[in-house]
Amino acid sequence: MSKKILLQHINVPGIHTLETYVAHGGYQSLKKAFSMSPDEVTEEVKKSGLRGRGGAGFPTGMKWSFLDKKSEKPRYLVCNADESEPGTFKDRYLMQHIPHALIEGMITSSYALGARTSYIYVRGEMMNVIQILEKAIQESYKAGYLGNNILGSNYSLDLYVHPGGGAYICGEETALLESLEGKRGNPRNKPPFPAVWGLYGCPTVVNNVETIADVPWIVNNGGEAYAAIGVGKSTGTKLISACGNINKPGVYEIELGVTVEDFIYSDQYCGGIPNGKKLKAVVAGGSSVPILPAELILRTINGEPRLMTYESLSDGGFVSGTMLGSGGFIVYDEDQCIVRNLWNFTRFYHHESCGQCSPCREGTGWMEKVLHRIEYGHGKMSDIDLLVDIAKKIEGKTICPLGEAAAWPVASAIRHFRHEFEEHVRNPESCCKRHLHRSMELVH
Ligand SMILES: Cc1cc2nc3c(=O)[nH]c(=O)nc-3n(C[C@H](O)[C@H](O)[C@H](O)COP(=O)(O)O)c2cc1C
Repeated sequence: MSKKILLQHINVPGIHTLETYVAHGGYQSLKKAFSMSPDEVTEEVKKSGLRGRGGAGFPTGMKWSFLDKKSEKPRYLVCNADESEPGTFKDRYLMQHIPHALIEGMITSSYALGARTSYIYVRGEMMNVIQILEKAIQESYKAGYLGNNILGSNYSLDLYVHPGGGAYICGEETALLESLEGKRGNPRNKPPFPAVWGLYGCPTVVNNVETIADVPWIVNNGGEAYAAIGVGKSTGTKLISACGNINKPGVYEIELGVTVEDFIYSDQYCGGIPNGKKLKAVVAGGSSVPILPAELILRTINGEPRLMTYESLSDGGFVSGTMLGSGGFIVYDEDQCIVRNLWNFTRFYHHESCGQCSPCREGTGWMEKVLHRIEYGHGKMSDIDLLVDIAKKIEGKTICPLGEAAAWPVASAIRHFRHEFEEHVRNPESCCKRHLHRSMELVH
């Protein structure tokens, strides 16, 4: 049985309440943390090898140590709970069911960073999550875990929930900070990074929900114990939201290092593909990461079984690898149309581009139009290379990584499934006949 850190008590009735959470060992990390110096807590997080669970996988302890501690200004911890990446729904699951896990993590992490005010920025559409968190925060204040002189210590913290601006871009950390300041959520130019110039121009750490919720376990058990779970530089456990053509969609906590094959086919996780269909492709880390066909997602370039780790999933680079990303695992069976899926993703990125950078603003819309005409039977062979060319002209040329998020799915789908795009151009009726009759969708 796989080790559980975050979801160990997920099935305990009432675990969303403070009483039950405390009865199952909740909030113990506070006392332990307060008996250590803030730098000692950061040191344990460094030792744990914990990497940011929001997508980029940046080492959390290292990020914390970049915080400008010489500055006289207040410091902030901001939790990124915007979770809008298609295919990713793990953070909302955790917040909905065990809200105190995040609150405990916010307190312990804020202590380590010297923050006296912290924020949880929650995707605006997730009203139920906002209400659950608000209620849990009230419980936590009442119990003396938040507010002045927490548990009799000289550490005080105020914690606020902030509803997001209703846009995917507000999950990009600097757009999030702009939005939290009450402005339009446009990404900032970096440097300066938030560690130096973050919320209200003050030193700030932005971390994902899951990253922060992992901290209490690290404080309670020590960084080395966390680092002993997982494989190599992929330490600990990871929440994976699994969807698509699988028998058991849902959120799974895996020990980093299970094989992709096991994750897809074992009953402990996705339980295989319905109706005996064959695996066609997988998007392993949310819509932004490269799609891989079955043979590549199951094996690395050395013929080794691919593992659910940062390193193994990226084995082969952009030619035959992908990324763990935010853990949004989307499975496609043999009946799924890659062109249609890509058109759908690209519609999303076009809609969500903030418009600041011309390559992203214009390029995403252009790719959407070209994909639309291929999907609906009006494409030309030259459109396929045109798409690759537009994607190349977006990648690396925008203020924030939404450009790459839009470009990589296009580049990878054409790299691995070019024949399918060609088939759409040559013989549009063959694959997507049913779509051709959906004239309502002919938006351009
Ligand atoms: C367009 C875009 C959307 C993003 N959305 C999220 C999000 O919803 N949640 C999140 O944690 N990180 C998101 N990120 C990544 C954040 O910018 C940032 O790297 C992350 O919050 C850092 O936390 P971590 O180090 O704990 O992973 C997004 C990035 C981009 C470019």
